[in-house]
Amino acid sequence: MRRKVLLDEADASTEGTAVKNAPSSDSSPTPLAPPHPQRRLVQMHRENPAEVRRELIAGLSAAPAITSPKFLYDSLGSRLFEAITELPEYYPTRTEAEIFDVHATAMAQVIGPVGTLIDLGAGNCAKALRLIPSLRPARYVAVDISIDFLEHAIASVQRKYPALEVTGVGLDFSSTLQLPPDLVRGRPVFFYPGSSIGNFTPAAAQSFLAGIQRQAAGGGLLIGVDLVKAIEQLEPAYDDALGVTAAFNLNLLRHLNRLIGSDFDPRDWRHVAFFNREASRIEMHLEARRALVVRWPEGERRFDSGERMHTENSCKYSVDGFAALLKSAGFEHTRCWVDANAWFAVFWAQA
Ligand code: AVJ
Repeated sequence: MRRKVLLDEADASTEGTAVKNAPSSDSSPTPLAPPHPQRRLVQMHRENPAEVRRELIAGLSAAPAITSPKFLYDSLGSRLFEAITELPEYYPTRTEAEIFDVHATAMAQVIGPVGTLIDLGAGNCAKALRLIPSLRPARYVAVDISIDFLEHAIASVQRKYPALEVTGVGLDFSSTLQLPPDLVRGRPVFFYPGSSIGNFTPAAAQSFLAGIQRQAAGGGLLIGVDLVKAIEQLEPAYDDALGVTAAFNLNLLRHLNRLIGSDFDPRDWRHVAFFNREASRIEMHLEARRALVVRWPEGERRFDSGERMHTENSCKYSVDGFAALLKSAGFEHTRCWVDANAWFAVFWAQA
C-alpha cells in the first residue's frame, strides 16, 4: 500500500497517539498539535505534482477537453462551493440536512450499533456532527483529500465529544479507497453524504460502491443521492442568478494555471450547465467565448469559438435506480428516506 504517514512511524503504530509532525522533508519535525490521547492524523499517498500535470495535460489535449471535478476545489473553489450550498437555487444541501434532521432517530434504529463511522469527504465535519448524537459511534474517521483542511475540523469534533476516538485521514478516495488497516474497529458504517456519488458515471459509481461494500462487512453505508426532477428545479441549481456557480466553474481555470503553468484567462470563458436527459446528469462545461490558444510550458491547445471543456458531471437517480445500483454493488438490503418533494434521498445499504 502506498502510504505516507505524517506521524513518526513509531507513533503511527501506537494506537491512539496523536502527534502530527511536519512533512518528512523537514529534518527536525515539530508537532503541530499537542498530543491528545484520542486524536490522530494520517496522510496517505498524495498524488505527485508530475502525475497531476500529466493527467491534466492529457485531459486538456483530448477532444473534447476534460478535467476531473476534483480540481474545482482549491481553497477559493472550496469556499465558493460553500457559498453555493447557501443559494436558494441549490436545494441538495439543505434538503439532505432536513432529511437527516427529520429521520435521524429512525435511521439510527435501522442502522444499529456503530463501531466506526467513516466519513468520506468529511470537509468541515458538519454533516457528521449532526448524526453523531443519534448514531453514537465509538470511533470517528474523517477522510478527505487533504488533512490540512481536516485538522481544525476534527479538533472541534474532539472538543464536542471528548470520549470519541477521532482520526483524520488525508486520502484521495475517489481513486483508491484503501484505509489504514488498524483504523476500523467494531461495526463499520460508511457515510457518504452530499450526493457526491453523482460525480461518478453509474458504472464507476458501481465499482466505487462495491469497494465500500467490501470494506463495510457487517456494517453498511449511509449515502445521500440527488434525484431526477423537473428541469426547472435542476438547471437553476447549477446556473444560479448570482453567478456563484459560474465563478466556481471558472475558478478551475486559475487553479489549472497554477498547477500546469497555463495562461487561461477566465474572461475568455463562459459557464455552461444543462441537464443531459439521456445520461440523467447535469453537465458543467466551460465554453470559449472566442477562438483562442491556451499555452503551458510544454505545449498548447487551440479552442474554436464555442468549443467546450467538460468540467463536471452530476448524475441524478431515481429511488429504484439507485437501490438497484446498490444491490449490483453487493449490498444486501437497502432502506431509503426522501423529503416531501422527493428531490433528494438518503439510503442505508447493509453490507
Ligand atoms: C459536491 C458533487 C455534490 O454535483 O451538486 C455544485 C458539486 N457543482 N454545483 C453537485 C457542484 C456545481 C456538487 N457535489
